[in-house]
Amino acid sequence: MATARTRAPLAPLLTALVALPAFGLDNGLARVPQMGYNSWYDLECSDAMNESTLRRIADRLVESGLKDLGYQYLNLDDCWAKSRRGDGTLVADEAKFPDGTLKPLADYVHSKGLLLGTYTDRGEQTCAGRPGAARHEELDAKTYAAWGIDYLKEDSCNASGDHLTAFMEYGKMRDALNATGRPVLFSLCGWKSWYAPMGSTLGNSWRIGPDDNNWQGVLQNIDIMNGLETYAGPGGWNDPCLLLSKKTTGEAIMTELQTRAQFSMWAVLAAPLLISGSVLNMSAETLATYSNKEVIQVSQDPLGRQGRRVLGGPVAEGTGNVFARPLADGSFALVFLNSGKEELNVTCGKECFGTLGLSAPLAARDLWAQQRLPDLQDLSFTALLPPAGGHRFLRVRKSADQMTWI
Ligand code: GAL
Repeated sequence: MATARTRAPLAPLLTALVALPAFGLDNGLARVPQMGYNSWYDLECSDAMNESTLRRIADRLVESGLKDLGYQYLNLDDCWAKSRRGDGTLVADEAKFPDGTLKPLADYVHSKGLLLGTYTDRGEQTCAGRPGAARHEELDAKTYAAWGIDYLKEDSCNASGDHLTAFMEYGKMRDALNATGRPVLFSLCGWKSWYAPMGSTLGNSWRIGPDDNNWQGVLQNIDIMNGLETYAGPGGWNDPCLLLSKKTTGEAIMTELQTRAQFSMWAVLAAPLLISGSVLNMSAETLATYSNKEVIQVSQDPLGRQGRRVLGGPVAEGTGNVFARPLADGSFALVFLNSGKEELNVTCGKECFGTLGLSAPLAARDLWAQQRLPDLQDLSFTALLPPAGGHRFLRVRKSADQMTWI
């Protein structure tokens, strides 16, 4: 099975163009998709986006068991930075971060066995009008390293939409981070699929579509992900945006079923798993969703192949689909998804299984029911799926193969 990534023919030329001066992205991070928490949909720019809330979130990531399941990054999003000092050094908003830096928070987060992420923008200002990184890449990278930052998301508001300019600007921050000698996971946020062929030369993940915001946005990003699978692999991932669930204020963005469907799809698509709902006020069902070890195992599979559609059409149009991801042990993860408004039977038959090179009989396990299913003797599986997010998550393999599931 080929593990090498195929890049667009233009990629080597573009790489040469944007590579001066470059050290390449050699931070050794994100060999599997990153996991953690991101403050954006949960806290946005509210007063609650402050050091004391974030410390409580760090505590809760540990107490809830999420940290031990692999959710290691606690990532701040927009609205933490306030200004620059006379010498250009970034200052954190003192009303939220009393020290004026993120160092005390980084120390606390590290003492909990977690890692701290922060956020910037390649323009002069972030989307929320806070200081951006333009012309300050080296100084900011040094500041982040001195504070103990482990992850940087760089947004694209107030910046050029020209592809080469974007690659150059992301290349500047990549090189500045490399030059610090501190391994900092670098997450590009340019909202476009044209980043994918260049992504792995610039960062550890790159946003391929708009903010997901709600269920329809989740579906839209799934459709954009499909077809980009050759660009993803250990060290660099297509990023379809954040995981959505209830906010700390209690506001629900999606149903519990949709939160679970999104989590299933993000696992099969090898997407970063960044919870952007409440950790402090998480429902038992959402916690169970994000804690499913077998689904996490699919996400973190060492082969690092992104899954693709094997049946159906655009999910944003409301259809039945099957997505499949090959796994390191020779088995496949399969998600059956109904994005339509009516209950639906979705069948993966001979052709659907055949495109994966699978032949009957197949052994199958249901990852949400957490049980072995009867073997599939005739290469067909039908899932009866409720509307608007109904799904089944199977792992299948030739039944003759001797292997354990987890
Ligand atoms: C958007 C970005 C979101 C969030 C927001 C903050 O551009 O896509 O994920 O970071 O900015 O202002």
